[in-house]
Amino acid sequence: MIPEQFIQELLNRVDVVDVVDKSVPLKKAGANFSACCPFHNEKSPSFTVSPTKQFYHCFGCGAHGTAISFLMEYNGLSFVEAIHDLAKQVGMIVPQEARDVDRPPKQSVVGLQEALQQAALYYKAELKKSERAIAYLKSRGLSGLIAAKFQVGYAPAGWQNLQSVFPHYEHEVLNTAGLVVENEQGKRYDRFRDRIMFPIHNRKGEVIGFGGRVINPEDTPKYYNSPETPVFQKGHELYGLFVARRAIRDAGRVLVVEGYMDVVALAQYGIDYAVAALGTATTPFHIAKLMRQTDEVVFSFDGDQAGRSAAWRAAINALPALTDKLKLRFMFLPTGHDPDSFVREFGKVQFEMEIQSAMPLSQYIVQHLSEHNPLHSQEDRVKLLNEAEPILKQINAPRLSLMLRKKIAELAQVTDTEMQGLLKLTKVGKPTAKAIQRQSRSPMSIKKRLMLSALMRPDLVTKEDVALVPNVTDEDRFLNKVLSVCLANPSYKPAVLLHSVKGVDAGLMADVESELHLLDESLDFALEFSGARTQLLETVQQMKETQLLHQIKEKPISALTDEEREMLKKLGVK
Ligand code: UTP
Ligand code: MN
Repeated sequence: MIPEQFIQELLNRVDVVDVVDKSVPLKKAGANFSACCPFHNEKSPSFTVSPTKQFYHCFGCGAHGTAISFLMEYNGLSFVEAIHDLAKQVGMIVPQEARDVDRPPKQSVVGLQEALQQAALYYKAELKKSERAIAYLKSRGLSGLIAAKFQVGYAPAGWQNLQSVFPHYEHEVLNTAGLVVENEQGKRYDRFRDRIMFPIHNRKGEVIGFGGRVINPEDTPKYYNSPETPVFQKGHELYGLFVARRAIRDAGRVLVVEGYMDVVALAQYGIDYAVAALGTATTPFHIAKLMRQTDEVVFSFDGDQAGRSAAWRAAINALPALTDKLKLRFMFLPTGHDPDSFVREFGKVQFEMEIQSAMPLSQYIVQHLSEHNPLHSQEDRVKLLNEAEPILKQINAPRLSLMLRKKIAELAQVTDTEMQGLLKLTKVGKPTAKAIQRQSRSPMSIKKRLMLSALMRPDLVTKEDVALVPNVTDEDRFLNKVLSVCLANPSYKPAVLLHSVKGVDAGLMADVESELHLLDESLDFALEFSGARTQLLETVQQMKETQLLHQIKEKPISALTDEEREMLKKLGVK
């Protein structure tokens, strides 16, 4: 086990630009360096390396990470090997933690990828042995053929079954791969127990993670996924994409569904071009990834409220990635159905008819915006324009943008010229990379803005900032952790700081990581930081006042203190 402190120091010492440049010659491009991406085939460079953020990032395939992950991905090194390699490059000596001493010497250091692959093979073999797991899959209508196609497996009940696959059960790689978890006493056990296992593959077909579904309906959570690891970022990966890639080309479209079982069940019924986002909202990375396979993306959502809000999130996230060539459509299944249950009840033909009648994105946006807006009064129409503005501003596809603007102008009863003036829309044209970066930043929350600007300027964070917001939501906790790490390490680069933030929600982490990649480096982050801090302070203050107001209002006037009366007066309430 290499001490975390050392890894942080190391990351702080190396320069990702040097590390990458050794294998992939880089060219200076503005503040960054760029090259053709080594992780996918391309003719024009979309791979950038940022010296300020200490990240590399490919706008084409979404590959991204730190100096450590570059060595792992590019040279196929294990995590430990990558650390040793980097340490050598900067002349640091890798310390070992005391408890390593009485461990057996590591013979072959098994890599992350290999560990995951071996686990997948193990789970697959275990499925053959478990009548109960097979019966469960049968009860869900799956054939052995489909199970094999998706390499479905079974993680048996029991705490340390993986010990039979990995004699060095204590090896760090099992932890890094997310195959084991450690309890507070430092005791390890298998992450997945008594679950149907769905391996998740990257574009090369390598196993990068798992989703595990319970068999016992009482067990929770229903699905348990691998954590984010150096090879697995939820916001970038889609379940089933590797298996479906041929079918997607042949069908000329991809169907995006919500669940693992939906993908597998659809394939069982001959709809083999479906993929699923991994329990997170679809991201612009997902859309960009799919657009490289096909021009038609159909989202299928469950007919319930959760499905509807997921659909709207998907639509908003897709905006910066849209092109005029891309056909993006939304289909809503009847309430109570998901793709799995629908295709089982009504069959392939009926399901494909639903796909045919899916709603185009522009229509969906208009429908959503006018759904709860009667458009009777002036105020209603202003509200529509207000809500449409941030959406229109994020669309770079010229025709789509024009069409949507016209439609909204019509609904709001203004002319297109008035509309342009009102929205101060810039002329639509080919977007610059900067514009895309800026646009994907616009719907950002204040907390996220504070987080990102703190990561860029950790030296500005003060003790007071750390307790700016109370720890209520996951985002609050994340923000506070980021701020404490910044406070403790004011000279670290963003990637190193993020690396040091532990124990936060993986989805949030992935989200902030991708925002950081897209962040426009020419911004004045000192200004951004103080702006976000002031705004957040105001919001917090407002919240406190509202709360106080509620409390005061409960009291009879006669029971109010002078201070409380003063407060009411200040807030303009009698
Ligand atoms: P659903 O709850 O819709 O389940 O979750 P499902 O896909 O229909 O599953 P079955 O049919 O009951 O087997 C949709 C997706 O949300 C994520 C998973 O990715 C799942 O496929 N999810 C759901 C979790 O990550 N954890 C959970 O506890 C539940
Ligand atoms: Mn289902």
